[in-house]
Amino acid sequence: MADAFNDYEQLAVLPAGVRDFVAGGSGAELTLRRNRAALDAVTVTPRVLGGVGCPDTATTILGTAATLPIAVAPMAYQRLFHPEGELLLAAAAGSAGIPYVISTLSSLPLEKIAAVAPSWFQLYWLRDRTAVRALIDRATEAGCGALMVTVDVPVMGRRLRDVRNSFTLPPDVIAANLVDKSTEAHSTLNGASAVAAHTATAFDPAFSWRDLAWLRSVTEIPLLVKGILDPRDALAAVDAGADSVVVSNHGGRQFDGAPASIDALGSVVDALGNDFPVLLDSGIRGGTDVLKALAVGADAVLVGRPLLWALAVGAPDEALALLGRELRDAMLLAGCADLAAVADLATERNPWPIS
Ligand code: FNR
Repeated sequence: MADAFNDYEQLAVLPAGVRDFVAGGSGAELTLRRNRAALDAVTVTPRVLGGVGCPDTATTILGTAATLPIAVAPMAYQRLFHPEGELLLAAAAGSAGIPYVISTLSSLPLEKIAAVAPSWFQLYWLRDRTAVRALIDRATEAGCGALMVTVDVPVMGRRLRDVRNSFTLPPDVIAANLVDKSTEAHSTLNGASAVAAHTATAFDPAFSWRDLAWLRSVTEIPLLVKGILDPRDALAAVDAGADSVVVSNHGGRQFDGAPASIDALGSVVDALGNDFPVLLDSGIRGGTDVLKALAVGADAVLVGRPLLWALAVGAPDEALALLGRELRDAMLLAGCADLAAVADLATERNPWPIS
């Protein structure tokens, strides 16, 4: 049993190449490091004597009831970490009462995953519009409660750890949603080629606002746009019909030089107004980070890497229970009875180094 949500990275036993695939960022990993430094730099001033007792963490995220203001970030190829892959992590999310986001690049078919827990579907924009349409239809048919389109991957960021490790997927880990059903042939996203090389052939680097508006026109399920950092893009996403944006730099895996998500959050919330749902990810490593993100202005967060480490240990359910406990402890310590009280806390970006 881990003592803290962030302990699973140490506990996970994985091949070095897989570890680096998860832990790494793009380029010199400046944005990856900045995500943590910026979250560490946020201070939240606690309130006292509110008679809190037992804090209430429940919320609704885009029409989906959730016990915590948290969803599992979409992450590719989860059978790299556990033979049951996505099924185990999705089931843990379901038991914890939070949404699980199925990646376009899941290593099991989206229908199988959506059958074990309430899920959303993350869409990568592929060159083949027919394939995009087929994925939307499948996700809708499978009962996915929202569509999260990722907009910060016109190409995959250059992840130097993977390049130096010549990282490839093992033959039994495939992009299961992209297998051509008529021929049973694997798409270019499968096989032994390097992850970056094969995504380069399938992803559309010219994805545009016009495409996003088309996407909005063909589906009525709630639409989240993931990978927003500039308030002008946040406004454009709303114009194109988005129901929510995810302030994210993809965990430091895309443009190396982007601001930390937590630093970009305030201006996006200012642009969209307090009533528009805004999510955040990149660098969340425990309950205090969740509280900080909500205090700065997010309505909920996505959690990424720590849940892959927990999956590798076979304990994603325990990890989510720990994260919930950490959030409730943080709320008690900050004097918050519910998430509205968290949103009302005073925050500052405190430049004092802490180590
Ligand atoms: C990701 N991420 C991601 N995002 C996405 O939209 N589709 C995907 O398939 C993936 N795949 C993926 C794989 C791995 C191994 C990682 C680590 C990340 C990005 C993910 O959704 C999220 O934005 C970041 O992981 C958040 O940062 P933290 O919490 O990992 O720091």
